[in-house]
Amino acid sequence: MFQAKSASLALRAASRASASHVLRSAAYSTATEVKKITVIGSGLMGAGVVQVAAQSGFEVNMVDLKQDFLAKGEKIITSSLKRVAKKKHADDAAAQQRFIDDVMSRVHLSTDSARAASESQLVIEAIVENLKTKQSLFKALDGAAPQETIFVSNTSSLPIGDIASATARKDRFAGLHFFNPVPQMKLVEIIRTAETSDQVFDTLFAVTKKMGKVPVACKDTPGFIVNRLLVPYMMESLRLVERGDASMQDVDTAMKLGAGYPMGPFELMDYVGLDTIKFITDGWYTAGKGLVGDKLIAPSSLLEKHVKAGEFGRKSGKGFYSYEGVGADKGKK
Ligand code: 3HC
Repeated sequence: MFQAKSASLALRAASRASASHVLRSAAYSTATEVKKITVIGSGLMGAGVVQVAAQSGFEVNMVDLKQDFLAKGEKIITSSLKRVAKKKHADDAAAQQRFIDDVMSRVHLSTDSARAASESQLVIEAIVENLKTKQSLFKALDGAAPQETIFVSNTSSLPIGDIASATARKDRFAGLHFFNPVPQMKLVEIIRTAETSDQVFDTLFAVTKKMGKVPVACKDTPGFIVNRLLVPYMMESLRLVERGDASMQDVDTAMKLGAGYPMGPFELMDYVGLDTIKFITDGWYTAGKGLVGDKLIAPSSLLEKHVKAGEFGRKSGKGFYSYEGVGADKGKK
């Protein structure tokens, strides 16, 4: 317990130190106070961010294009909150319900992104991974949001600087990369472009800590920290199976029991989405800064085969493994 606590303290100290060493200028700045956050996109990632923000006391607007999408996002949040509530108040159903109601009282649903942004100090985008779509969203919000409002993208594969270029607030633009499942994964990567200000960086640092997360800092480079390491590992596991060196079941068992990973690489790819992995690697292979043509992320025939067949992993009910009859966010094979 003590070891775990000191490891976590060391991690926080190290992340703060590295942030100031690598990514901050000499001048120290004051963070802006964030009270209301707008999250655009109510899919698994967006809903997860809404949940952790509301759980930490922020007022949150959850925005999507249609009421249907918002209803799905709301369902993701309430089923996740039920798990959290059961842990917090094990044998007290009334207290569980009070906890859920309290969190949900801070979640406001909207299909009007401009209006939501106009009343927020922070806008977090978690929509489809398409540069043009993200740019046009932020361009529209740039005219609607107050001067001081900070814009961030939760993109896992697109350059933050390219998304920010559609706005006139490049100093108030950064990346905030959460991990799936958002309520459970402690890490958030804060991505700083050459133009992101110290004040914005400090604000994002404070906001993510208030959310109970551990922030780390990274420059605007392909994959940031986690995906830069994780995606080539996934691609190598595909090649190992393609060569016939081992079965995917044995690769998964090996990495769980021999390396202590909570999931093997094939289980994790199914969890993240095979279409997402393909999208990320294709993008880097053709346009990633310093990664173009890199054999670490070269196309995999096994991955292509599954994606072509519409087998995207948990979300489609089938990927490397089958998840028939299991909710996409439930997580059992
Ligand atoms: N909401 C709330 N709590 C959740 C949850 C959710 N959606 N999902 C899991 N949990 C909690 C459970 O309540 C449980 O909590 P407890 O330990 O305090 O009781 C804990 O997580 C473990 O859950 P389960 O017992 O249901 O299942 P597992 O032990 O199999 O863990 C897992 C599930 C947390 C998903 C674990 O397998 C894991 O950590 N896997 C790796 C996930 C990972 O690597 N994610 C990053 C992917 S990369 C990414 O997101 C980047 C993107 O850009 C591609």
